[in-house]
Amino acid sequence: MLPLCDRMPRMSKVKKAVARHKPLVVANWKMNPATLDGAKKLFIDIRKEARNVTDVDVVIAPPFPYLADMNKLSPSGRISIGAQDSSPILKGAHTGEVSLSMLRSVGVSYVIVGHSEIRAAGEKDEEVNKKITAVLKNGMTAIVCVGETKRDTHGHYFTTVERQLRVALKDISSTKLKQLVITYEPVWAISKGDGRGQTATHEDAYEMKLFIQKILADRFGRSAISKVRILYGGSVNEGNAQEFINEGEMDGYLVGGMSLRSKEFTAIVKIAHNHAKKVTS
Ligand code: PGA
Repeated sequence: MLPLCDRMPRMSKVKKAVARHKPLVVANWKMNPATLDGAKKLFIDIRKEARNVTDVDVVIAPPFPYLADMNKLSPSGRISIGAQDSSPILKGAHTGEVSLSMLRSVGVSYVIVGHSEIRAAGEKDEEVNKKITAVLKNGMTAIVCVGETKRDTHGHYFTTVERQLRVALKDISSTKLKQLVITYEPVWAISKGDGRGQTATHEDAYEMKLFIQKILADRFGRSAISKVRILYGGSVNEGNAQEFINEGEMDGYLVGGMSLRSKEFTAIVKIAHNHAKKVTS
């Protein structure tokens, strides 16, 4: 394998080409809250606390049964609705599957694809590719998760992310790039928001962001970098969000645990909002 310095893009070149994107903050509620009433309360609390946030795209991705109700709670569309997964199959006898047209009919505009918890249950890169293709075809935005399960000193995690990304993007047209968001979620750093265990640093995130941009540029040409937002996910909280967006130059976050606490989640959204205001002023 090539040494890291040979596989990384020239930072100055990449940086020069990129104007900062409008930040995107996605709440991945996973299998929470336990009841529809709990979901409604959490959504309303976030909506209230984030009412003055203008410079960030906010997406809430609740479990499937709550999607329609959450959509009704966001009549202005100021908070977009995301699904945590979808079927790549359009319709038919597929017990338990949820199609993209069903999701669209209840107001979903973003779909998380390839989350590590679904990959861990057996989802392959090729299935991720099929799902992305279907999401884009249906006019929705795919939030594609990539990330290694563990780190080593030889940089094998770059190979993992490169494979995930190249297969995920196979046959995707460059005309659809604005509907694509890539999230770097190192699996070893997920669910450590309570302060227990190792979390990623802004250097880890920044290095991988450049690597992902290099792959996008190789695959679609340099203009891809200005079309695709790259988020960080993995134990994002009020304490580390600033460094991921500032030093790490991430375009936002995919937030799990802390998205279930309205105050913490809104604080993260506000960090992205203040950052966006600062860089555009
Ligand atoms: P976490 O989850 O923020 O609780 O680490 C992130 C995710 O898995 O999407």
